[in-house]
Amino acid sequence: MTAASPWKTKDLTLDRVGSTTLVDQIASHIEGAISEGALPPGARLPSWRDLAGQLGVARGTIRATYEKLMDRGLLVTAGSAGTRVAGSLPPTVAPDPRDPEALLPQDFHYRATHALVFQMGVPAHDAFPATLWARLHRQAVQATSLRTGYGDPRGLHELRSAIASHVAVARGIECSPEQVIVTAGFRGGLGIALRAIGAAGKQAWVEDPGYPVARFALEISGVHAVAVPVDKDGIVVERGCELAPAAALAVVTPGQQAPSGVALGEHRRAELIRWANSCGAWIIEDDYLAELHLGGRSPNALAAGPGSERVIHVGTFSKTIAPMVGIGFVIAPLPLARRLIDVATWLSAPPNVASQLALASFLRDGHYLRHLRRMRLLYGERRRLLVETLRRLGVDKAVPAGLSVLLPLPAGFDDQRLALEARAVNLGPAPLSPWFAAATRSGAGLLLAVANVLERSIDHDCQRLLTMIEAS
Ligand SMILES: Cc1ncc(COP(=O)(O)O)c(C=O)c1O
Repeated sequence: MTAASPWKTKDLTLDRVGSTTLVDQIASHIEGAISEGALPPGARLPSWRDLAGQLGVARGTIRATYEKLMDRGLLVTAGSAGTRVAGSLPPTVAPDPRDPEALLPQDFHYRATHALVFQMGVPAHDAFPATLWARLHRQAVQATSLRTGYGDPRGLHELRSAIASHVAVARGIECSPEQVIVTAGFRGGLGIALRAIGAAGKQAWVEDPGYPVARFALEISGVHAVAVPVDKDGIVVERGCELAPAAALAVVTPGQQAPSGVALGEHRRAELIRWANSCGAWIIEDDYLAELHLGGRSPNALAAGPGSERVIHVGTFSKTIAPMVGIGFVIAPLPLARRLIDVATWLSAPPNVASQLALASFLRDGHYLRHLRRMRLLYGERRRLLVETLRRLGVDKAVPAGLSVLLPLPAGFDDQRLALEARAVNLGPAPLSPWFAAATRSGAGLLLAVANVLERSIDHDCQRLLTMIEAS
């Protein structure tokens, strides 16, 4: 395929007497440039003023044009970073409904469906307590089979109590079960939080690099994500204050930054809390790894610290147990509790009651703590083995990053293509570049999850991957 020529506004001739409005003409021209690739995802558009000047139209015309394209999901605005082509574009041609993957978002292809080697997001296949889980589930189905009505919209009391007790001990969060809202994983909690905050149309800080799913979720909710860089101490709060001081919220992973795995430094925690309290912003704490910390004791949750009334803590059992559990939770800070519970009541619903009860037993009977202890040891061992194997094979740049190992690749390397090719041979590395906001998209690399790294085959798997990288 030949590269599309870059977009030039001089190619745009406007018909000022016809019946098509100027907004529609300019929008259709920009849409054409996007679909031909002359304006690729992430490309920056001229400011209203510049484009209005170049085309000889009013600024309001350009503003209306950009807003129209934003409503259609083609453009996004990122505060002072200007207006850009959206990172993931809606399909322009009708998808083939017979293709099982055609209607799924493109980025979903990298996500876990089964346990490939290096695949992120799935637990260790060989260590999952499947028999125990199946037994608890069977018992829960039986025990709840006559609960035929609507329950508490926040979820089952047994589970909310078990979660409140657990986070008190493991994450240092003091809360009552009445503040716990059981959700469909992190994504369910994020959706509730964004609505409760009234975030649509406002700016939100996101970590750069950061969890792409959070960015997509903000985009689809009409929230303008502002990419704030991350360094060895986590999100650079000072930069956030420069880029978008009046943002309504920040979505952060303070415990273990995704994907780097670094913990938010003490000074940064204090700065972030100070910023939120001083300008009335909310902090959404994505505590996806909770106490699954491979390098010693997990730091307490941000929601546990002083001044944390503006922290909405969102937990999930997707990583600590498995995504198939499909359960997470929000700890509602008191100032926003009524609103969060209203949204959960009117716009959401707790997960299936039997799954909630099975999880409540798993937590209450001590299985969860035992499971976490085992997984911490196992994943720690597998991460050490992976780094060591890569070193032995001549790769010394690979670094531990949470439950993965990050293998950096030279700038410009097409890590997304490599990840797709690797999938075809049953290896599941995740490309690093989609973790960067479209505006910066700087780092190429592969994230190699350690959960399914097996001693007997790791040499061979690493060799296969390295051969593919060399051949690219
Ligand atoms: C940063 C981050 N947050 C949250 C999650 C879990 O999300 P969910 O509970 O929606 O499966 C993941 C899983 O991959 C993650 O990497």
